[in-house]
Amino acid sequence: MKATSDWKQMKREGDRITMVTAYDYPSARQSEAAGLDTLLVGDSLGMTVLGYDSTVQVTMDDMIHHAKAVRRGAPDTYIVVDMPFGSYHANEDDAVGNVLKLYQQTGANAIKLEGVGCLDIIRRTVAAGVPIVGHLGLTPQSVGVTGFRMQAGTHDAAMQLIEDAKAVEAAGACMVVLEAIPSDLAGKITSTLSIPTIGIGAGVDVDGQVLVYHDVLQYGTDRLPKFVKPYADFNTAGVEGLRAYAEAVKAARFPDEDTTYKRKVFEE
Ligand code: KIV
Repeated sequence: MKATSDWKQMKREGDRITMVTAYDYPSARQSEAAGLDTLLVGDSLGMTVLGYDSTVQVTMDDMIHHAKAVRRGAPDTYIVVDMPFGSYHANEDDAVGNVLKLYQQTGANAIKLEGVGCLDIIRRTVAAGVPIVGHLGLTPQSVGVTGFRMQAGTHDAAMQLIEDAKAVEAAGACMVVLEAIPSDLAGKITSTLSIPTIGIGAGVDVDGQVLVYHDVLQYGTDRLPKFVKPYADFNTAGVEGLRAYAEAVKAARFPDEDTTYKRKVFEE
């Protein structure tokens, strides 16, 4: 398993970091078998797994439940877990307590927080021994304010985001996710920071990439964001498989000889 100290070294060596979201035991098992460097138990599970229309409804209990399943499925992979909406904004002591709880109860290797408004929480939790991942640009917990669209598209906003990224690094984060920002800005942030940047919709000039499992594999998703390239089609394979199963049942082709216990327990 990678250690938190490996991320900076991978950046220095130009070894690109691979990350995908995982939400349950099977997606974690597959991702570990595929050799991903790190998994993110994203609060995007609210949409991909629970069917909500945003991440806002996701709770601490949801994150703990799913992250524990991911840890069981990927015991040898570095796992980052998202703090859900509302769990780190009301007051700083509760926020710090929630980070420690998520870290302690899930077996996560790091915890991710969105935005630049939580610098003190990053400082305090890193001081307490929790590796923290930042998340800037499009932060899905704020889409009620920002909308699901590219961020930092002006020179001033780009300059501000560079300052925000420096502040997240200075607060002690071990890496930072950059979502839906212009690629030249992502490249500038990447060359400015000594911690790795993980892009999603941020172009290729970053230190690693993250995508949502259900987008990469087209699993239960209808529309893909512009920045997603799918690498498999589970939707088609799944519907075809289930249709074939239903047809076999209707036609009494399933169960067959091989899938039946044939011991005779009644006399003819
Ligand atoms: O929750 C999530 O899936 C994320 C990624 C979009 C980075 O935060």
